Amino acid sequence: MANGRCVLVSGAESGIGAACAIAFGALGDKVVVLFHDAHNDGSDTVAKVKAAGGEAIAVQCNVGDEASVEAAFAEAEQAFGLVSVLVNSAGINMAGVPVRQMTMPQWQRMLDTDLTGAFLTSRRFVRDRPANMPGAIIHISSIHAYAVRAGGADYCAAKGGLTNLIETLAIEEAPNGIRVNAIEPGMILTPMNKRASADPAYRKTMEQNIPMDRAGRPDEVGDLAVFLASDKASYITGARIVIDGGLSLMQALGA
Ligand SMILES: NC(=O)c1ccc[n+]([C@@H]2O[C@H](COP(=O)([O-])OP(=O)(O)OC[C@H]3O[C@@H](n4cnc5c(N)ncnc54)[C@H](O)[C@@H]3O)[C@@H](O)[C@H]2O)c1
Repeated sequence: MANGRCVLVSGAESGIGAACAIAFGALGDKVVVLFHDAHNDGSDTVAKVKAAGGEAIAVQCNVGDEASVEAAFAEAEQAFGLVSVLVNSAGINMAGVPVRQMTMPQWQRMLDTDLTGAFLTSRRFVRDRPANMPGAIIHISSIHAYAVRAGGADYCAAKGGLTNLIETLAIEEAPNGIRVNAIEPGMILTPMNKRASADPAYRKTMEQNIPMDRAGRPDEVGDLAVFLASDKASYITGARIVIDGGLSLMQALGA
């Protein structure tokens, strides 16, 4: 796929999604910056994509809402043509409470955003596509898809479910030239990790668990997304690529 592609990034007003949008912009791609609500309308990311050399528009979308996803894709394709690359970065943080205290709205909101959102955007991407039109889908999952954490049943279940969605979609769409992969970050400094960004002592404590002794940067995830969407990754589908400085290898502490 030549550059100048239409790249649609959800959760692109912030964090990893914004970094992905900017990384594709630097290649000269046309980036659709999906944002969730008016408190951050994606305009900052749009400006950075343009400054990096790409084109960009911001489109509001709630990824957990079918009509909203359909409308966002229609607006994207109206502006930039068929979407060639989908980066699914929209997500919310874990409730941080054990299952015995978790409310139904907490559980449902997570599933709607991090799992149903990925289903709805992926389905719209692959559906009604001209035959043999190549494409790439990249989901921002998490090491918590398999490395569980107390207080994160909602998040771990959503990301674990996402693994099976990605793998199923990968085998379904391989004959159609659509590759589907996951990125599994560890600790990345974004607004989702605001305590680590705001509290150096807390950040240091968390970073001591990471073999590389530091948190990751959003642009490091953006570079991986660019690679997975590129022809250099032409034989990679159904893969889950960990980017965590070695954190997820540290599961046997205390054994
Ligand atoms: N930051 C980390 O350490 C880390 C680690 C592993 C995985 N991740 C994953 O990376 C992805 C991006 O997270 P981030 O760290 O950039 O966080 P972030 O909070 O900076 O960005 C997430 C964005 O998703 C948007 N969003 C939330 N609900 C939405 C909805 N219903 N529809 C559309 N957009 C919605 C938010 O508005 C927000 O801008 C998430 O899926 C997260 O689970 C993050």
